[in-house]
Parts: sequence; structure tokens; C-alpha cells
Amino acid sequence: MTVREMQDEIIRLKKEKDVCILAHAYQSRDVIEVADFMGDSFGLSEQAAKAPQQTVIMCGVRFMAETVKILSPEKTVYLSASGAGCPMAEQMTPEAILELKKQYPEAAVVAYINTTAELKTVCDVCVTSASALKIVESLPQKGVIFIPDINLGSYIASKLPEKNVITVQGGCPYHASVTEAEAVYAKQAHPEAELLVHPECKAEVVKHADFVGSTTAIIAYAKKSDKKEFIIGTENSIVEYMQYECPDKLFYPVSASLICRDMKLTTLPEIYNILRGVGGEEIVLDEDTRLKAKHSIDEMLRLG
Ligand code: 13P
Ligand code: SF4
Repeated sequence: MTVREMQDEIIRLKKEKDVCILAHAYQSRDVIEVADFMGDSFGLSEQAAKAPQQTVIMCGVRFMAETVKILSPEKTVYLSASGAGCPMAEQMTPEAILELKKQYPEAAVVAYINTTAELKTVCDVCVTSASALKIVESLPQKGVIFIPDINLGSYIASKLPEKNVITVQGGCPYHASVTEAEAVYAKQAHPEAELLVHPECKAEVVKHADFVGSTTAIIAYAKKSDKKEFIIGTENSIVEYMQYECPDKLFYPVSASLICRDMKLTTLPEIYNILRGVGGEEIVLDEDTRLKAKHSIDEMLRLG
């Protein structure tokens, strides 16, 4: 089969079997083209909850498929590639968070949506990279334990000096691997380009940015801008995605190494096999975990 033949077969099968396919923005173009929705993890889980289909394939990583299941317990949810985890989401244990809570009993525990369902059960509220500032600002507590990304946590702390943000070591290994030298070099190589950076990158990279925002915000900014050239400081699939979306503009990666290995585990054959009934992993969450995790998401919606 060619790529196009397999895409056609996937589109035929998803209609025949009434399946909704979600693709995170960090998926490759061939996968995005067969999806019903493309976006960030929380946006996709909301789309899945509204979709009429009873079966959903999440092309992304495990915590994203879990978030879909948390919001749509009645649906059958598949993770496209069962080996696709997220090193950031899985780096802490609930016990470590409970220990921090004992140390700072007055502080609210704020979890980035990039956490496992199990971790969400011991947190007070979730945030996305887009809603983090607004939600942390609106919390009545001065003290905030922010898990699990030290870079996003430090970014929030720098914007909200009135809060006492307690961070823990950890984060996205790919975003955090970008160096200040790479950011400076990219700006010198493309002097007309604006640098758009995700707050999962280190502060020394973020400080060179013309715009700092979530993946969705970076996409929206580059589409709307009158500028013609952009250096993308988030996962390199966004460089390719934007080049398709805005063929008259030019997009460059800030670093050749900003590629999420887990996101790239999903390929068209993986999706094809799930639709044929021979692949993927069905996400199962026990009801107690689901309800406790959902509470922190409900709090995010209430405050955001
Ligand atoms: P956003 O898509 O929410 O910006 O998150 C970035 C990310 O690393 C997702 O895994
Ligand atoms: Fe996790 Fe980073 Fe990959 Fe996003 S890009 S899924 S945060 S490892």
C-alpha cells in the first residue's frame, strides 16, 4: 500500500466502524490528515466528549488518552501506540506529591494536564499551558505546588511574583533540551524571523522569545501575524504543520533535536491495525481514579 492508499483505507474504515480519530498537534502530517480533530490534549478530549462516535482513537501519548477516558467514560478509548508515554507526565509518584503536601499544608497542588490520571487524583486543580497563568492567579492560596514541569512552573512564578510557587525538578526532556546558544544562533541565522517559544523550554531560551505561549497559541499567533518568518520553539512537527497551513510564510526549528520520540511512535499502520481490530491499547481506568482525576479537571474548568 502507498501512504495515500493507507490513508484512504483508514478514512473508509473509520466511517464504516463509526470511529473518531484525534491527532495531537505533534503528530506527523500523514496522521493529522486522517484525523477528525487536531489540537492540544485538553481540546481534543473536549472534542471527543462532544463527538457522536462511541469509539475514539487518540493519536498521542498515554496521559492524553487517559484524559479522553476521564471525560468520556462511556466511550471505548484506544491509545494509538501503547508504548507512547510522556516522560514528563510519568516522572512523579502520588506518594511524592503527598509528601510535598505535608511539607506545605497551606499550598494548593496545581498539576499540568501533562500528568497521569493517577497523579491527578492527588492534585487540587489541573491547568493547561494556555490556562496556567490565569488559574494560578485566581487561586485563593498564596502558596502553589506546581507539578511536574519546573520550566512552566518557573515561568508562572516569574509572571506572578505575588505567589509563592514551589516547583519540583523535572519537565519535558525535549523542550528542556533546547539551549540558549541554539536560540541565539537561530535568531542570527534568520534575522527577520520572530522566535515563538513554548514555556516548557528553559528560562534562558524563553527570554529570547518574541512570543511565549502554548502550542495552540503559537499556531494562532503565526497564522495571524503579518510577519513572514518564524522560528518555532516547540516540537518540530509544528514547523511542518505551519508550513502546510501558511505556505507563503517560512518556518524554522529552533533546534533539530526538539522531536518528541513518544509522539512519533504513532504511524498510519498503527491506526490501520486498530481499525482492523488487531492493535492499539484500550484505556481502562477504575471509577475511583477517574472521578478523583475528573475533580481536578472540573476545578480547572471552573477557575479557567
Ligand atoms: P500544549 O499542546 O498544551 O502546548 O502542550 C505541549 C506538550 O508538550 C504536549 O505534550
Ligand atoms: Fe511529553 Fe514533552 Fe512529548 Fe509533550 S513533547 S508528550 S511533554 S515528552
